[in-house]
Amino acid sequence: MTRVAVYAGTFDPLTNGHIDIITRGLALFDKVIVACAINIRKTPLFTLDERIGFINEAFPDGRVEADTFDGLLVEYAAEKGACAILRGVRGPEDVSYEMQMIHMNRELNPNVDTVLLTATPDTSFISSSLVKEVARFGGDITAFVPKQIAVELQRKFEE
Ligand code: COA
Repeated sequence: MTRVAVYAGTFDPLTNGHIDIITRGLALFDKVIVACAINIRKTPLFTLDERIGFINEAFPDGRVEADTFDGLLVEYAAEKGACAILRGVRGPEDVSYEMQMIHMNRELNPNVDTVLLTATPDTSFISSSLVKEVARFGGDITAFVPKQIAVELQRKFEE
């Protein structure tokens, strides 16, 4: 049986923190679907195609699939035949937020469980928003995102 996990988020853009979670998810699951949320409360800097492209570049391996989704995450996960939602937690605040989502998602579909992985210390302070803020003001972000994404971020803010 192929064990599939869905790792959902905005990924605006993908960071080394996300890459850490996906890489470790691959040790637990046969396949990780990295699902970019379409319809959430954020106004992304990068288009969906750009965000999907970044994921495909970081994980050319067939065990990672980049996709988009709209609507409820548990419904999408069930459609994809996933047994788990994969999430990364960076600290206690993430854990309390995740607990709410875990309980709600379990009420919605008890067959899709959530697996939480704790971020490594060197990625636990990274967020996509912070990386964008540093890039916007010309700071060095090369330690937080893949090289190509750092280049694209610089380009966006030069436009
Ligand atoms: N390393 C680095 N950054 C991390 C991280 C990690 N391990 N884990 C989380 N982050 C960052 C993300 O980049 C994001 O940064 P940003 O706010 O600057 O963009 C932030 O932490 C929050 O991440 P996350 O909790 O994954 O939020 P999100 O907005 O990216 O995605 C969804 C949230 C899409 C998963 C959630 O809203 C959802 O499931 N929506 C579908 C609708 C639904 O089913 N709702 C009911 C849920 S109970």
